[in-house]
Amino acid sequence: MALEAIRYREGQLSILDQLLLPSQTIYIPILNTQHGYEVIKSMQVRGAPAIAIVGCLSLAVELKSLTFPSIDALVDFCRTKLEYLVSSRPTAVNIRKAADHLLAFLQSFQLGQPEGTAQAVESVKLKLIEEIEKMLENDVADNVAIGDHGAADILARTGKTRITVLTHCNTGSLATAGYGTALGVVRSLQKQNQLEHVYFNETRPYCQGSRLTAYEIVTDKLPGTLICDSASGWLMQSGKVDCVITGADRVVANGDTANKIGTYMLAVLAYHHNIPFYIAAPVTTCDLTISSGKDIVIEERDPREVTNLQGQELSPKGTVCWNPAFDITPAHLITGGIITERGVFKPSQLKAKLTA
Ligand code: MRU
Repeated sequence: MALEAIRYREGQLSILDQLLLPSQTIYIPILNTQHGYEVIKSMQVRGAPAIAIVGCLSLAVELKSLTFPSIDALVDFCRTKLEYLVSSRPTAVNIRKAADHLLAFLQSFQLGQPEGTAQAVESVKLKLIEEIEKMLENDVADNVAIGDHGAADILARTGKTRITVLTHCNTGSLATAGYGTALGVVRSLQKQNQLEHVYFNETRPYCQGSRLTAYEIVTDKLPGTLICDSASGWLMQSGKVDCVITGADRVVANGDTANKIGTYMLAVLAYHHNIPFYIAAPVTTCDLTISSGKDIVIEERDPREVTNLQGQELSPKGTVCWNPAFDITPAHLITGGIITERGVFKPSQLKAKLTA
């Protein structure tokens, strides 16, 4: 059975607890938005698309048993809950865009009938739940398109028939509704029998690579090798890497991209070694309201995520530590392009292509 980070069946939501992987495979039920907020904040679920989907589905399950006296009351309730969910983690834009979309969807019913009969209010609520449920299907379809566009572009650009990829963090089924973004490109290459190898970074401090990507690579029997983050430069110098592909948490109008800490370092190294560097991300990760990367808020997390590893202290008490969770890769270093479900674009073309 396919690896599922998010299970949603007959109105019930549960998530695979990513803090426990790979040693334990435990699904935890999510009953409401407060619970949704907590699992996002604690990173029991993580990855920009998965954060948005779990947040919105937690609203769907909470709504199920509630009734509202008017459409206005339903809209007010959803607005408060969505703002709360958006405040869980600041860097990934997907949950903000999903919240804005759902509110606009609701407001289209509010126009002209702010009160509504009990039946009309219930029917709007059910339509909203259906709209949220579509996110699961749409995300998988978008990821397959990203994977296929990315694979075609890389094959054309390198002129090779078998590709070795270096990737970072976890961008696969665990970070999305399924298939993945950067790891989706790897899956598409494998599907076409054109994946030579995938190297993946351990991705300190949360170890999305050594715990989560490794889990997906082993489960899917992909030809892959884990390396320390600090081995990336040496690997590139060896001439083994055909392209670097990472995901994104926010791609802004000029193409600057926020992604997991360490991505910028990889982009600089790829530039130095003349290796194409790609970002793979759905359009829901693109934020054209921000003009450049300097305006992206970078989440800083608890230093204990660095000084401790699974309850074990690595550093002496009193060690001062800085733990930014993301960094910004300037557009000029994204030499391969930005792979979306609509095609592969140069960073400088992104805004025009997405608004065309
Ligand atoms: O802190 P995380 O694990 O949520 O960060 C995840 C990443 O940076 C991913 O690369 C990004 O969200 C894309 S996931 C398809």
